[in-house]
Amino acid sequence: MSQTLHLTRPDDWHLHLRDGATLAAVLPHTALQFARAIVMPNLKPPVTTTELAAAYRQRILAALPAGADFEPLMTLYLTDRTEPDEIRRAHASGFIQAVKLYPAGATTNSDAGLTALKHAWPALEVMQELGLVLCIHGEAVDPAIDVFDREKRFIDDQLIPLRTQFPALRVVFEHITTADAADYVREAPGDIAATITAHHLLYNRNALFQGGLRPHYYCLPVLKRESHRQALLAAATSGHPRFFLGTDSAPHARGAKESDCGCAGCYTALHALELYAQAFESAGALDRLEGFASFFGPDFYRLPRNSTQVRLVREPWSIPAQLPMGQDSLIPLAAGTQLDWRFAGVV
Ligand code: NCD
Ligand code: ZN
Repeated sequence: MSQTLHLTRPDDWHLHLRDGATLAAVLPHTALQFARAIVMPNLKPPVTTTELAAAYRQRILAALPAGADFEPLMTLYLTDRTEPDEIRRAHASGFIQAVKLYPAGATTNSDAGLTALKHAWPALEVMQELGLVLCIHGEAVDPAIDVFDREKRFIDDQLIPLRTQFPALRVVFEHITTADAADYVREAPGDIAATITAHHLLYNRNALFQGGLRPHYYCLPVLKRESHRQALLAAATSGHPRFFLGTDSAPHARGAKESDCGCAGCYTALHALELYAQAFESAGALDRLEGFASFFGPDFYRLPRNSTQVRLVREPWSIPAQLPMGQDSLIPLAAGTQLDWRFAGVV
C-alpha cells in the first residue's frame, strides 16, 4: 500500500472566499494546497463588473500570507442586466476566466441572479463569440419542484435548450450531484465539463440526518441518494477529462449554520485534497486523482498545467472541531473525524 502520493499541484475550479475577516481566515487554507482557484462572485453586493472584480482580486492578493504562491481566477456574476460590453471588458481584462450564472433564488446570495435565461441572451452571445466560459449553478428554482429533482429538471428544461441556442458556448456545469448530470456531461455535444465536490463524492443525503439534523452537511445542491453518489464517484475516477475538481468550499460562521434557518455551504478548503484522496482511494483509483485534480481543469480553461508538485502522506489525523474566523468560528466538514491522508506541502 502506497504511503506517499505525489501530484502535480492542483487547482480549485469552484471556490467561495468571501471578503474581510472571513477571506483572511480561509484564504491561507486554499493558497497552501492549490495554485489557482476560480473565485465565485456571490458577495454582497455581487461582483457584477470588471471593475468590481479587479478590486476584489486586489483584496484577495492583499490577504495572501507572505510567500504564498497562489493566483485567484476571477468571475463575473451574470444578472438580467449584464451588458455585452461588460462581457467584452471582462474578457479583455485577462484576469476574469468565467461568468457565473445563478438562477435567482437558487442558493446563497443568488437574489441578483437571472430571473429568466433569455434575459442573458445578449451577454451569452458575446461569451460564445469570445470563448469565455459560463459556469452554471444548475438547479431549477420553481418551488413546486422537489429539492432533490432540481438538478435534473434544470438539465431538461433549461440547460439543453440553452445549449441548443448557443451550441459553441463553453460551459462548466458546477458541483454536479446526480447520475443524470454526470450522464449528460459525459454524452453531450459541444464544449462542456463539470466540477465535482469532495462532499458529494463522500456522502449521500443520509449524512444530513445521521442521529439528528446535521447543518454542517447542508449545501446546495443538496446531497442526493447513494446511487447518485456512486455515479459521481464513477465519473470522477473514470479519467474522463470532462470531470474535474471544484471544492465549492463555502464558509459560513458557525451561528449562521446552526440556526433555525441554517445557511447552505460546506467548508472543505482546510482539508480539500485529503478528502478527495479519501474518496478516490475508496474507489481504488488513487492513480486517477492527478488527472482530476491537476490536469483536466487547466486543459478545459485553456491555461497551462502547474509545474510544481504537492505531496500527501498516509498519516491519520483528526479534522479539528472548529477553526477561528474573525470574531466567529467555522466548522470544517466532517469535524472531529479521521482522515487517512495528510497534505505534506509543495515540493
Ligand atoms: C454556496 C455559498 O455559500 O456561497 N453554498 C453552497 O451550499 N454551495 C453557494 C453555491 O455554490 O451554491
Ligand atoms: Zn459554490
